[in-house]
Amino acid sequence: MGDPADQGNPHGEPPRRRRRRYAGTHPRHYEERYKEHNPEAYPEIQARVRARGGTPAGTHVPVLLAEVLTALQPEPGEVVADCTLGYGAHAAAFLERTAPDGLLFGFDVDAQQLERTRGRLADFGDRVRLTRGNFAGLHKVLTPEMPGFDVVFADLGVSSMQIDDPRRGFSYKHDGPLDMRMDDRIDRTAADLLATIEVEALAEALRRLANEPDHLRIARRVAEVRSTRLLMSTWDLVRLVFEAKGLSIRQWKRQHRRHPGERHPAARTFQALRIMVNDELGCLAQLLRIAPSCLNPGGRIGIISFHSGEDRLVEESFRQGLADGLYEAVSERAITPGIRERRDNPRSRSAKLRWARRVDERVATKK
Ligand SMILES: C[S@@+](CC[C@H](N)C(=O)[O-])C[C@H]1O[C@@H](n2cnc3c(N)ncnc32)[C@H](O)[C@@H]1O
Repeated sequence: MGDPADQGNPHGEPPRRRRRRYAGTHPRHYEERYKEHNPEAYPEIQARVRARGGTPAGTHVPVLLAEVLTALQPEPGEVVADCTLGYGAHAAAFLERTAPDGLLFGFDVDAQQLERTRGRLADFGDRVRLTRGNFAGLHKVLTPEMPGFDVVFADLGVSSMQIDDPRRGFSYKHDGPLDMRMDDRIDRTAADLLATIEVEALAEALRRLANEPDHLRIARRVAEVRSTRLLMSTWDLVRLVFEAKGLSIRQWKRQHRRHPGERHPAARTFQALRIMVNDELGCLAQLLRIAPSCLNPGGRIGIISFHSGEDRLVEESFRQGLADGLYEAVSERAITPGIRERRDNPRSRSAKLRWARRVDERVATKK
């Protein structure tokens, strides 16, 4: 027979799908947490979580939003490229500022996020053009009719929705497959990488990409463990990091109670692996290389980074562009969140925004 709700009705309407039932008052499995999958339907929960300084599950709180708009000055009718669409909060602000006829080209490598955000931005109609693609290929949407963008923006890293979904393997807080791919067309997951990477290369990556003080110990422990079994889940990796650091979960909990701001012992390892799996620095370097040729004269680029290695790349590229006469102005220093934003959205704490403005040859020749 099956579930009667699955069988449609005599009027030929599509079958109504019932959500999966869960036992108890709090759903334990991510798939059963219907509120996370439809956050807009529960505004009161969103408000409550935001008031506590949290990010409501299934959403993403935009970082440095006012500062981005001040730095990039989107104007009515302009063409904006949001290289990292995510939940679409920055994108929606760009669309409002460029109304009534400005265009927004949104990119994301993550098909799941892109489709959900497409629905969220539907009210803006055909002013929104979304592409599932890597921002390293930003130039591919340009045409002789539309040779450049007025604004290019990237908010690097992963979104809160990706971190909070245990099936993606980004978080040490939930048990899940050791995946960490933003783009599921990439072949190599974090588990594959840990199964094959040389110990020295892993130690170096943990040091360089996450300043992990115990990089050698963790890399050696990975080599020991993988000689007997594969590391398949996020909690396999968390346990391994604790072992390498000679720390028990109980000791960490005690330490965390005394110093609640301290980073989780596995946070740096997860960060370095995620950056490697998704070749985040390689993609950023390519975006920075092509950016000047993708901007219209006088066009502005803004990049929010969350890691010193990324920020260094952005700063160097903008300064070099200024020296080479590609940019006419760049931010003096990184713009960071104020006290209130850091308190209200702890995930914003390490954010740094830098911007640059492409030289406007038309003005330069007039002078
Ligand atoms: C921090 S979130 C962006 C949040 C967004 N600004 C908002 O307001 O919701 C970063 C997003 O960029 C995507 N992403 C990361 N690297 C990318 C790349 N190289 N090309 C395209 N998308 C990327 C991620 O999948 C993620 O959805």
